[in-house]
Amino acid sequence: MITPRHIAIIMDGNGRWAKKRNHQRVYGHIRGAKVAYDIIKSCVELSVENLTLFAFSTENWKRPQHEVSLLMTLLIKYLKNEQKKLNKYNIRFHTIGNPRLLPKEVQELLIENIESTKNNTGMNLTFALNYGGRQEVIDSVKKIAEDIKHNRLDSSDINEQLINSYLQSAFMPDPELIIRTSNERRLSNFFLWQAAYSEFYFSDKLWPDFSPSDLTKAIVDFNSRNRRFGGLTEPQPPPQPMRNIHG
Ligand code: FPP
Repeated sequence: MITPRHIAIIMDGNGRWAKKRNHQRVYGHIRGAKVAYDIIKSCVELSVENLTLFAFSTENWKRPQHEVSLLMTLLIKYLKNEQKKLNKYNIRFHTIGNPRLLPKEVQELLIENIESTKNNTGMNLTFALNYGGRQEVIDSVKKIAEDIKHNRLDSSDINEQLINSYLQSAFMPDPELIIRTSNERRLSNFFLWQAAYSEFYFSDKLWPDFSPSDLTKAIVDFNSRNRRFGGLTEPQPPPQPMRNIHG
């Protein structure tokens, strides 16, 4: 069985899971965070090279203040408590998205976790935080325009690889498998550019019910797909992004 090099997950359905049990929505996020730990561990065991979790979108700020605060508290708890485990599992931690609007404590802990895991050589674990795919494209277009303006780049240099290299995700290959739970079948502004050739797996399970065996099912399903990348026969994967040289 082939393990996808990059699995990206839209963890959806926490609120509905809690409502079904007559609990407040935030209770679903608490369970959801626990499931996130289990899935991270399973991905390490399965030798997944890259795992990206969509943990907070640019649209999630529209939620009630107490829900946003709880999500930030869960994040703080994770970043404080799991740092040792990240190192134990040789995980290299990253984030994508704009951290500037996140609480100061979260920003500091993100830097601390990124720093303390930077020499690890195992799985890349990326939290997408205050992330939106369109914003990521806008930011990279702005950087390209700046570089053209200052003669560091010529417009004739613009191609797929160049754009890849300006995206925040430049250090990782495109996601081969995108999983979304809770029977919703949308991308919701996640990895808009990077998902060009991704395989999608939609699970009926609400995120707090998603288990390592559901992850295995998704990978088995991925293995049954015939990935042609626009061609007709045996696939060649599309070119992988270059390392981000633009900070
Ligand atoms: C979607 O459920 C989930 C989120 C908006 C946040 C995901 C966050 C976690 C799983 C917890 C924190 C994670 C880590 C890794 C510490 P929803 O609220 O949109 O559910 P609904 O669609 O049923 O309302």
